[in-house]
Amino acid sequence: MKVIILASLLCVVTSAYPFSFEKDIYSGTKFPKDIPVYFTNTECFGQRVIQLPLDHFNEKDDRTFNLTYALNINNFKPGGPIYLVMDVDYIGIGEYYSSQVNRLARETNGAVFLTERRYGANSRPFERLDPKNLQWLNTKQIMADYETLIRNIKKDQDYSQSKVVLYGLTRGGKFATWMRLLKPDLVDAVVASSATLLAKKDAKEVLEYESNLLKRFGTGCYDKAKTAFSTYEKMLKTVEGREKIKTEFNVCPESDLSIPENQYFMMDLIKMVSYNGELYCKENSNHDQDFKSEIEICNDVSYEKYIDSAKALYLNFHYQDCFEFGHFKTTSSKNQVFGNSAPLHFFTKMCKDLYDTEFDEAKLDKNIELTNKLYGGNQPNVTKVIFVNGELDGASTLSILEDLSAESPAIVIPDQYKIADAQQDSWKDSEELRNARKKIRQTIKSWIGSSD
Ligand SMILES: *[C@@H]1O[C@H](CO)[C@@H](O)[C@H](O)[C@H]1NC(C)=O
Ligand SMILES: *[C@@H]1O[C@H](CO)[C@@H](O)[C@H](O)[C@H]1NC(C)=O
Repeated sequence: MKVIILASLLCVVTSAYPFSFEKDIYSGTKFPKDIPVYFTNTECFGQRVIQLPLDHFNEKDDRTFNLTYALNINNFKPGGPIYLVMDVDYIGIGEYYSSQVNRLARETNGAVFLTERRYGANSRPFERLDPKNLQWLNTKQIMADYETLIRNIKKDQDYSQSKVVLYGLTRGGKFATWMRLLKPDLVDAVVASSATLLAKKDAKEVLEYESNLLKRFGTGCYDKAKTAFSTYEKMLKTVEGREKIKTEFNVCPESDLSIPENQYFMMDLIKMVSYNGELYCKENSNHDQDFKSEIEICNDVSYEKYIDSAKALYLNFHYQDCFEFGHFKTTSSKNQVFGNSAPLHFFTKMCKDLYDTEFDEAKLDKNIELTNKLYGGNQPNVTKVIFVNGELDGASTLSILEDLSAESPAIVIPDQYKIADAQQDSWKDSEELRNARKKIRQTIKSWIGSSD
């Protein structure tokens, strides 16, 4: 608590004009008074909303919603670049992932904008989400939201000549890439961080990749993990085996592990507890103890409860995967160690259970094909986009790991998971990670014509 108070004082004192943004640059939109909502170690953000059409492409529909974003203009000088961090589900998360752009902004006199995705925590068009009212949660509408926001910012004289840099995180990384593809006049440069660009229903290569990573822990590790997971999966088939697993992993008595969907959840839990299998390969490791010391309450392994809470609280979370991208981490491949409990139909069943009759697998297939055709999958025809991935991230198999061209380079950061590049340098960070961040900054600066 003390730390927070101190930090907030620092924040106010060091800011020239932290929360007053005098000029109404967003004509046509009414704004609340600036609310200082959060801050990073060194930067202050103010929070705003911009009122946007629910449907950008249907003039007859005049419904609107408020997209929440935050801005840090403390380093901005007229004509400096605009950095847009996109797109998080909850604006507060941005604190962790804006350090790199804040630094870029300091070094280039830029302004940082941090946006939620539509339907995100503070950007909901509807009070209650249901399968029918999620139909406006799609790529075209999302990109139109950001385009509108950028065009509104650029209405202000101080920003009219500003270069626009998008820093896209995971899903946001692909929208950023595609905006550069479609609107090269509006978007000057992009960092696509852990961007899953290839739409694919059965993303079986994710678990293949994660399995191969185990080889880092020694030659026998892959096989050891495979044996361990296959043993657990066999145990799940018998009454005694299930009881043993329940004890070993502190599963709640009422969890019914004979249900196939629960078995997937159980295997996923085992995978998580064993750090993706790593523990089976290290000498003297005991996941049992590691695990139990951390939790006091039992693990409720229940597909049904998961679906119920998702329906009540975050129906937006899986929506685009079920309707546009797929990205299902199945166990379809023989060349992976994590068993067979997550076939493709598990995921399509989940989509059906979440979105009822709105879900249509044939429509998903068609959208996946269309998405890859429109945007080029993992060979998009773009320049001035830098693709960044973490070596340990299985989803990087859907991204770009090698330079597409000199003007669209790729970086794979050793020993990292997702979007580590977006955070600030810390004493714990490897040299490779620091160098990756440095290369990103240099590349972006050279693309927007800012001297280093
Ligand atoms: C959107 O924000 C404006 C300005 O703060 C406010 O007047 C309006 O009620 C908001 N609309 C919704 C739907 O929350
Ligand atoms: C890629 O884009 C450039 C210009 O933006 C265009 O001239 C070229 O034909 C495109 N290449 C392909 C393979 O579509």
